[in-house]
Amino acid sequence: MASLPNDLSAFWMPFTDNRSFKSEPRLLARAKDMHYWTPDGRKVLDGTAGLWCVNAGHCRQPIVDAISRTAAELDFGPTFSLAHPLAFEFASKLARVTPEGLDHIFYANSGSEAVDTALKIALAYQRSIGQGTRTRLIGRSRAYHGVNFGGVSVGGIVTNRRVYPSLPGTDYLPHTFNHGEQAFSKGQPAWGGHLADALEDLVALHGADSIAAVIVEPLAGSTGVLPPPVGYLEKLRQITTKHGILLIFDEVITGFGRMGTPFASQFLGVTPDIMTMAKGLTNAAVPMGAVAASGMVHDAIVNNAAPGIELFHGYTYSGHPLAAAAGIATLGLYQDEGIFDNAAALSGYWQDAMHSLRDAPHVHDIRDMGIIAGIELTPSPKGAGLRAKEVFHRCFDLGVLIRVTGDIIALSPPLILQREHIDEIVDRLREALEVTA
Ligand SMILES: Cc1ncc(COP(=O)(O)O)c(C=O)c1O
Repeated sequence: MASLPNDLSAFWMPFTDNRSFKSEPRLLARAKDMHYWTPDGRKVLDGTAGLWCVNAGHCRQPIVDAISRTAAELDFGPTFSLAHPLAFEFASKLARVTPEGLDHIFYANSGSEAVDTALKIALAYQRSIGQGTRTRLIGRSRAYHGVNFGGVSVGGIVTNRRVYPSLPGTDYLPHTFNHGEQAFSKGQPAWGGHLADALEDLVALHGADSIAAVIVEPLAGSTGVLPPPVGYLEKLRQITTKHGILLIFDEVITGFGRMGTPFASQFLGVTPDIMTMAKGLTNAAVPMGAVAASGMVHDAIVNNAAPGIELFHGYTYSGHPLAAAAGIATLGLYQDEGIFDNAAALSGYWQDAMHSLRDAPHVHDIRDMGIIAGIELTPSPKGAGLRAKEVFHRCFDLGVLIRVTGDIIALSPPLILQREHIDEIVDRLREALEVTA
């Protein structure tokens, strides 16, 4: 049994109410497949794949073996003007699952770095084709694109932006959520496709020749699970192409089988010019992010450059051997075990199970797509977020890990789940909601 740390003060926890956590800590000590165990040995079903990232389940042996083998063989190898075979092997394998045409891979170490890399690539592309006036980046309200300055600038979470200055020239599409029109929609809401027309308004306002790229999450995850309305992404694709604006999909959470396809792009039938990924890329066993760029984008930057380095960007750990090895093993598991197909096969059962909670106390809305669900609660009169926080604690104590942001519960379990896991999540959640009521 793992021992509890006796000093909680030194670790300044990220995105955490440190005072509240440290007065009532909940810790995870080990994990396997669909479960975590607490230091005192209690089993907790992982309803969130960690943080939307352990898609193949926890501590999978082929990944563990690949990491330990590589750590003993090549602990580190630079990828600046030198490289190692694993970085190439992983990129080639990855390019076989990315959406058609997005087959040039640039490595980062997290989703946030992947986002900033994608934005820089978009700016470099425009410059490389003689469109250097295009420096404006368009994001969307209620978007989350990580925590680096580029991602925060195009993101739309007020609390993330209030303290930090944004890049100049950013502007925003409206978000796509409307409770009155969309409540309890199953999958993509029918209402809201027209909201993509707001991009035409931004083009009219700023001029297309000032806009480099538009970035959106195909499904906004961190701000409460907002599936794209029918026709919305198609329209964004059409407007961006018409005006020479690059379309970036941030697939950091929608990637690697969440929709039953490798990426949401393939599930929804819309292909961006640039795509970000992280999390399920290595099954979260080693931190890694990546950007997939189209041939058009890559070739313009590389072929139009003067002799020398074409893109002034990169991280010491871009393509780190341990991450590349974990990534190769992860892709192997996804394929060998048909993990994406399992997600696709269970998505109908998942959807019905989630929507069965409609009559549970305080449920204000339920949204879903693939193996993702968002359950929005009516806020407690005592304060926003308090009710969901209580449900989170109760669920944890009942043996199911959920995630809450504000009054929205987000669910995204590992994709090796079976029907019994879905039933357990629903039963415990109902129990927690009833007790909270
Ligand atoms: C869509 C999206 N982009 C970027 C990120 C940031 O990823 P990371 O926390 O690995 O930096 C996240 C994290 O949840 C995300 O959901």
